[in-house]
Amino acid sequence: MEILHVSAECYPVAKVGGLADVVGALPKYQFQAGHIAKVVMPAYNTRFFHTHEFELVHQGGCWLGHNWYHFNVWREVTNLLGFDLYMIDIPGLLDTERVYGYYNDTERFLAFQVAVLDWLNEWQHQPDVVHVHDHHTGLIPFMMTHAYKYERLRNIATVLTIHNAQYQGQFGWDRLYQLPGFDLWKAGLLGWDGAINPLAAAIKCAWRFTTVSPSYLEELYNGANGLENLLNYERGKAVGILNGIDTVVWDPATDPMLPVNYDKQTFIEGKRDLKQQLCAQFNLNPELPLISFIGRLVGEKGADLLPEIIGRSIYEQKQQVNFLLLGSGDPHVEWSLQQTRIYTEANFNVQFGYDEALSHRIYAGSDFLLMPSRVEPCGLNQMYALRYGTVPIVRSVGGLKDTVTDFGDPNGFGIRFIHAAAWDACLAVGRAVELYEDTAKLHDICETIMQLDHSWDTAAAEYLQLYSSIVHKPAPKN
Ligand code: ADP
Ligand code: GLC
Repeated sequence: MEILHVSAECYPVAKVGGLADVVGALPKYQFQAGHIAKVVMPAYNTRFFHTHEFELVHQGGCWLGHNWYHFNVWREVTNLLGFDLYMIDIPGLLDTERVYGYYNDTERFLAFQVAVLDWLNEWQHQPDVVHVHDHHTGLIPFMMTHAYKYERLRNIATVLTIHNAQYQGQFGWDRLYQLPGFDLWKAGLLGWDGAINPLAAAIKCAWRFTTVSPSYLEELYNGANGLENLLNYERGKAVGILNGIDTVVWDPATDPMLPVNYDKQTFIEGKRDLKQQLCAQFNLNPELPLISFIGRLVGEKGADLLPEIIGRSIYEQKQQVNFLLLGSGDPHVEWSLQQTRIYTEANFNVQFGYDEALSHRIYAGSDFLLMPSRVEPCGLNQMYALRYGTVPIVRSVGGLKDTVTDFGDPNGFGIRFIHAAAWDACLAVGRAVELYEDTAKLHDICETIMQLDHSWDTAAAEYLQLYSSIVHKPAPKN
């Protein structure tokens, strides 16, 4: 089977969060399973694009309303990533330093999607499935089915994966003219709640859609930032498939970003050395348990709860514990973490910003990884923590519920709490400190979690089963 993934992010080319990790790994596993998997993404102005070898495979141009954009399609020649990587370069639109956050993001991703389809329209032999990820690529299933100029693409099966339904990419109807021509009677398929909504359009028009964990799918039926009714209406097309992790990139025995490597035989010494290095770097006490957080400092991740969790654990509950955070995001959260640091300096440190190598050292050198998420479609951090022998402390939500069981339950290995509230997270921190004091039990758990299988094999097989159920079948009517 031939699958074309279309995504705004792909590790290691351009990464903002877990979407990149997924799109950098799933195609590799599909390729290893004997299929042709390709990824097409924007050619941002990234180091990867400038330091790797690409060949020009297509040149074209597209109209966005009255504006004409020239584009180039580049193919990475060494097949370095384990799948075919294509990058679409649109000078003046996509050649940006960052992936998102520009005033013209709507045009940027619209032009990207149109360029992808213009290029695909020229392929002699077309893929069996076009797999789109999140709202940045959400107009593709609609355009493939209804835009006049893509009539050739009408019978290619489309799959949408929802990584995060909080973000939907809405824009006003006044931009309708920027889309390639289609039968205006179909315009309703683009809309939701008074605006053009690319995520909603993809839910309506993709042949199937998936979420990145089964629990998240169930949660979305009750709360999906306004899309609940649509999701319930379309539930016959939905499947929850739990993400995996790239066990080659994330392997403490070979990870080149770790100064010390370890495996399940040597994790006690390995993790101890790495913790000592981290504690020395961040002025923390290596004798105390080290609880870390890595991620976007936003409400979804429960990051606003962190100052209270840290303050209460150290001052109210007098826990003997260290906290270390790595992340960036909401300026209010960053400010309040800076304030918290003033009075908890001996037990808490934070590095603001994005640092891939440091994140690996934190996964490896910490005892626990805290994830007080309000919403967590899947979450990869907890799976990285498990693989590195670090016990996850998670709120029972979405993919965290599907990947972490509580050590108080049969065969359990993590720490779970129910409420997205500092008091409940503090109780979980208390349980972590008790577990830390029971060294034998902690080591037992570390050994168990390092052996859990979260590789992509299972998920890749589930995706293939899903594709097989739709390819070369008649397109759904809409
Ligand atoms: P999300 O995509 O919602 O942010 P995920 O758990 O799926 O959450 O994935 C987050 C990914 O981004 C992980 O690979 C995590 O290690 C990485 N990450 C998040 N914040 C940072 C940071 N500040 N520095 C380095 N890596 C980070
Ligand atoms: C999104 C979600 C996260 C998930 C990731 C990869 O960013 O917020 O929970 O792990 O996508 O699917």
